[in-house]
Amino acid sequence: MRRKMVAGNWKMNGKTASAIALTQAVEAGSKGLGAVDIVLFPPFLHIPIVADIIRHSDIAFGAQNVSEHGDGAFTGEVSGAMLRDVGCDYVLIGHSERRQMAGESNELVAKKFLAAQESNLLPILCLGETLSQREAGETESIVGEQLAAVVECAGLAVFEHAVIAYEPVWAIGTGVTATPDQAEAVHAFIRAQLAAQDAKIADVVRIIYGGSMNPLNAKELLAQPNVDGGLVGGASLKAEDFLIICEAAIV
Ligand code: PGA
Repeated sequence: MRRKMVAGNWKMNGKTASAIALTQAVEAGSKGLGAVDIVLFPPFLHIPIVADIIRHSDIAFGAQNVSEHGDGAFTGEVSGAMLRDVGCDYVLIGHSERRQMAGESNELVAKKFLAAQESNLLPILCLGETLSQREAGETESIVGEQLAAVVECAGLAVFEHAVIAYEPVWAIGTGVTATPDQAEAVHAFIRAQLAAQDAKIADVVRIIYGGSMNPLNAKELLAQPNVDGGLVGGASLKAEDFLIICEAAIV
C-alpha cells in the first residue's frame, strides 16, 4: 500500500516571524501523525528557518523550484546542489503557476526534473489542465503530454523516486475543488499511462491531488483509491487546517 503524503506549498507568503510560528505549530501538532509523510515547501529564504525547527521531527521539507542548471553564472537562480546543502529532500517541479507565470514549457519542466534527480532531490512533478482545456475535453491529452515530456527525457525508472501531483489549474486558489470522482478519474488515467510502460512503477508511484484542498473536502478526496495525498496551498498557511488535512490522510 502506498503511504499517503500531505505537502504544504506556502508559495510566496510570510515573513520570518510567521514562518517560525507556522513551522512551530505544524511541528507541535504533527506528533501522532507518523502514518503520513508531511512535507513543507516554504519560500527559498525561509527554508533554513523551517529546517532548524523541524530537525528533530519526521517532517520533511523542500523548495518550490530549482534551476535546470548546475552551479554557475545564472543570476537569481538556485541550484539543486544548494537545496541539498541546506537539507532539502524534495522539490516542486512544473507547478502551474511557474508554467503560466514564468513560462515553463514541458521541455524546461523535464530538464528541471532531471536536475532534481541528479542532485538527489525527490521531484514532485505537477500536472494539470486549465478550465478551457477541461471544457474542450482535453484533460487527458494535456496531462498525458505533460507526463510524456518528462518520461521521454528522464525515463520511467526514476518515477520510483518521484511523486506526481495532479493539480487542475481551475481548482488552484479558486475555492473550486475537483470532485472526488473528477480527481480519481485523472489520477487513474495518470497511473494507467505509467502502467502501460511499467506496471510495478505505476503501482508504487504516489499521485497526490492539489487544488483548493481544505479541512472539509480532504477526507473524501483522500479516500479515493488513486489519490495518495494532497498538495495544499492556501490551507497550508494555517497550521490548524493543514494538520486536519494531514489527519484526514490517515486511514
Ligand atoms: P491551493 O493551491 O490549495 O491554494 O488551491 C494548491 C497548489 O497550488 O499547490
